[in-house]
Amino acid sequence: SDQEKEAIIRRAVRAFPDFPSPGICFRDITPVLKDPLAFCSAIDLFERHLRANFPKIDVIAGLDSRGFLFGPSLAQRFNIGFLLIRKKGKLPGPTESVSYSLEYGKAELEMQCDAVEAGQKVVLIDDLLATGGTMNAACELIKRRNAEILECLVVIELKSLNGAEKLKPYPVHSLLQYD
Ligand code: PRP
Ligand code: HPA
Repeated sequence: SDQEKEAIIRRAVRAFPDFPSPGICFRDITPVLKDPLAFCSAIDLFERHLRANFPKIDVIAGLDSRGFLFGPSLAQRFNIGFLLIRKKGKLPGPTESVSYSLEYGKAELEMQCDAVEAGQKVVLIDDLLATGGTMNAACELIKRRNAEILECLVVIELKSLNGAEKLKPYPVHSLLQYD
């Protein structure tokens, strides 16, 4: 069942206090990838949620780097493409870029201009939503290409950082929530 799948994923996620800096409790998804049942459960829950809510999706957009771990497997379930939203300087050819601030630090995201067509329906995916700065910047890139953002998906949402509030009006769906 969906509850069992959620429990399998929840049991796999580990917490590391004071990583990468004091005061940050780092939620680590690497055991979800190590365990094929946990990984498949995550993709299953994402797929089921999307099928229940969106009749048509054109492309899945994954965020550098851990959005790349989940996005392609999910895109395969829908027989649709996957596009990369990368940290600055990684993508060749004409790109669109936007800068943003992190829970710890600052960075810039980029997307190839031909990655998405105007009007295409896009679902964004990452491993985790913290302050929402990264996902918000990714949404800005998609919006600049005049594509339609259906939803932002994450495995984990850190509720106390109010990332979903920052992303409004774009909806967020998470598999697991922590304070
Ligand atoms: C982490 C995480 C999200 C982002 C969430 O990635 O994977 O992408 O931070 O934080 P935010 O909601 O406060 O923006 P990170 O920037 O550490 O990069 P990485 O995936 O390359 O390790
Ligand atoms: N875990 C993984 N990535 C993150 C976190 C976290 O707790 N916070 C910001 N990025």
